[in-house]
Amino acid sequence: MAHCLGPVLLLLLLLLLLGSASSAGGNRCVDAAEACTANALCQRLRTKYVAQCLGQVAHGSCPRSRCHRALRRFFSLGPQALTHALLFCPCTSPACAERRRQTFVPACAFSGLGHEPPSCLEALDACEKSLVCRPRLLAFQASCASTPSSQDRCLRDQGPRCLRTYAGLVGTAITPNYVDNTSARVAPWCDCRASGNRHEECEAFRGLFTRNRCLDGAIQSFDSQWPSILQDQLDSHHNPGQRLLQVSLQSILPVLALQSLL
Ligand SMILES: *[C@@H]1O[C@H](CO)[C@@H](O)[C@H](O)[C@H]1NC(C)=O
Repeated sequence: MAHCLGPVLLLLLLLLLLGSASSAGGNRCVDAAEACTANALCQRLRTKYVAQCLGQVAHGSCPRSRCHRALRRFFSLGPQALTHALLFCPCTSPACAERRRQTFVPACAFSGLGHEPPSCLEALDACEKSLVCRPRLLAFQASCASTPSSQDRCLRDQGPRCLRTYAGLVGTAITPNYVDNTSARVAPWCDCRASGNRHEECEAFRGLFTRNRCLDGAIQSFDSQWPSILQDQLDSHHNPGQRLLQVSLQSILPVLALQSLL
């Protein structure tokens, strides 16, 4: 892998995997990244998707289906406490929210490479034709639907299922993500401007993400589950072998930086 990534990309990759140095100040997305780094399985799956999703972006291309497959593997095989901590880390600052938005390297996975968003109907049609995407969308709809009797909120205990099925959409044709770094609003990379006589259908689909109080509530209540989630990781986090690895990686960073100047 190393030979096709330039030294600069490799450096970027290492920095992503290590979590940035700005952990001070209570950035919980950085805490989540560090907890993932400290867990062998989480780190391996994350290294994989970062490499797939970032690997060729520098060359102006994006191996999107491989990137998506690696992301789906991360969220289906990774330890859920850690993968969810990365995806739903509660933020009070733009720096944190920006990091959260960048969790799965959105250029390739989410938005393509800087084009205008396509119509949501295209994304929806692609999803409904896909054996991977369709059941995941149905599960998300079923789990994150708010019913009139629940006053537009998730039914009791529905929240975790809602988040699980939301995470299941990452790496599909309708991969959702945070839309900015000042809110916790989410949406797939698409809009309804050119949806013609299917405008209502388009808005209804987009609204599953943008006007879904069950989903919003589930993301917000992840906040209250947070301490126990990272508590579980404290032991592995502070084990000496891990420190050693971090130190040794940190000591090769200057070498890589030097290489990139040559
Ligand atoms: C937040 O997003 C804006 C617009 O994309 C960007 O210019 C800014 O640098 C971001 N803020 C942080 C803290 O990353």
